[in-house]
Amino acid sequence: MAKKRTQWTCQNCGRTTPRYMGRCPGCGEWNTMVESVESKAKPARRASGAPRSKPIPLPDIETEGLDRFPVPIEEFARVLGGGLVPGSLTLVGGDPGIGKSTLLLQASALMAESTGQPVLYVSGEESARQIRMRADRLGITTDQLYVVTETDLETILHHAQEIAPWVVVVDSIQTVTSEDLTSSAGSISQVRHAASRFQGWAKASGVAVFLVGHVTKKGSIAGPKTLEHIVDTVLYLEGERFHAYRLLRSVKNRFGATSEVGVFEMRERGMVEVTNPSEMFLAERMVNAPGSAIAVTMEGTRPLLVEIQALASHSTFGHPRRTANGVDYNRLLLISAVLSRRVGLRLFEQDVFASVVGGLQVQEPAADLAVAVAIASSVKDRPVVADLAVVGEVGLSGEVRTVSHTSSRLKEAARLGFKRCVLPRSVRDTPDLPSDEIQLVPVRSVADAVEKALL
Ligand SMILES: Nc1ncnc2c1ncn2[C@@H]1O[C@H](COP(=O)(O)OP(=O)(O)OP(=O)(O)O)[C@@H](O)[C@H]1O
Ligand SMILES: [Mg+2]
Repeated sequence: MAKKRTQWTCQNCGRTTPRYMGRCPGCGEWNTMVESVESKAKPARRASGAPRSKPIPLPDIETEGLDRFPVPIEEFARVLGGGLVPGSLTLVGGDPGIGKSTLLLQASALMAESTGQPVLYVSGEESARQIRMRADRLGITTDQLYVVTETDLETILHHAQEIAPWVVVVDSIQTVTSEDLTSSAGSISQVRHAASRFQGWAKASGVAVFLVGHVTKKGSIAGPKTLEHIVDTVLYLEGERFHAYRLLRSVKNRFGATSEVGVFEMRERGMVEVTNPSEMFLAERMVNAPGSAIAVTMEGTRPLLVEIQALASHSTFGHPRRTANGVDYNRLLLISAVLSRRVGLRLFEQDVFASVVGGLQVQEPAADLAVAVAIASSVKDRPVVADLAVVGEVGLSGEVRTVSHTSSRLKEAARLGFKRCVLPRSVRDTPDLPSDEIQLVPVRSVADAVEKALL
């Protein structure tokens, strides 16, 4: 076995030192030195003189055995790009308590059950009994799901060799430690080292590995951004603490499209797939109430109808407030300013609240116009036409800008019974618009949209 020794590597310039230094002697940056393991360089050639690797023409590379495994949870499979690629390494991140362990335990059980082949679930956070209790609650009975409580990297890999599973889940990567490093569990160097080892092992064995990470999107904990480069696929489980909906979003995928989203609902019996999310998000809508507009946003390749609610009320203090929930705060400021200056609404003396119903985060600028229409509806106390959806990006001059995927947005709106859709005038020339299914209401400006959308 190759001899290993620890060293410290600068994450900025790559300079290595034999001991920790607060400031990198190479680039002068502070706190960039991270512990790493240096394996004695393996000789590029064997003793016989033959090199280890051999370039081969592209068409001659074997792809047999690389077909995707089916994943029996459709929403999960969608996010993975259609199925699970053998030998892939997937990071599943998310806020504490969001449901990562629940989702992966369910997925592990179903994958074991559907193939009849073992799946290994390694937990470093919960005891086997705790996992059994959760499994009972989720109604899991399969005997092909193996569970072990372990945090030592070498032991985990040993168990994985022994059981020969087709999927390994490590919950969580922050608890895994290697004796090769002296730093504590969860440190950047331990997490990175363990992830690289799992990556190497997954590629060599063809086993698909899932790593759970306590990783927030802002990446505040334990070097998640460095993990993103090591793994093949990065999924984030998102949701509002007080809402039952959970979105599984792919932000990196070496084997499929990114930005795909799977929608789940957290129930007592675990994560339940939501195959018709638009219907769910519109379920509690009050038709003909002022301050509510329907936006059609894209989550990956899927159009999603959401209700945007707004409330404008006279400011009690001199300084009018803007409060955004599920809508980007800076976009709300921009939309409010456009409504004041270009549409003539007196928002400078009004507090404005805007929120997306259901706890969804809508980042897409295509929802701007729906936010503008909802605010205008509240200010004027006139409801939006009941069977009307609104699509469009708002520009600083008060113009409505074009958006992508118009056709699929319109089809989804029509499918849910909407008869009309306000949309940017520029999309009129787009081919294949389903104008026989839904009436198009093209607009040029926000003022025009407000006039046509309100009763
Ligand atoms: N008996 C129950 N009925 C319904 N929901 C439950 C029940 N027990 C736990 N939950 C839900 O499961 C969530 C915890 O799920 P889970 O442990 O899978 O999350 P996690 O992301 O793995 O958390 P952690 O970061 O702590 O590992 C809780 O926040 C709660 O909403
Ligand atoms: Mg957990």
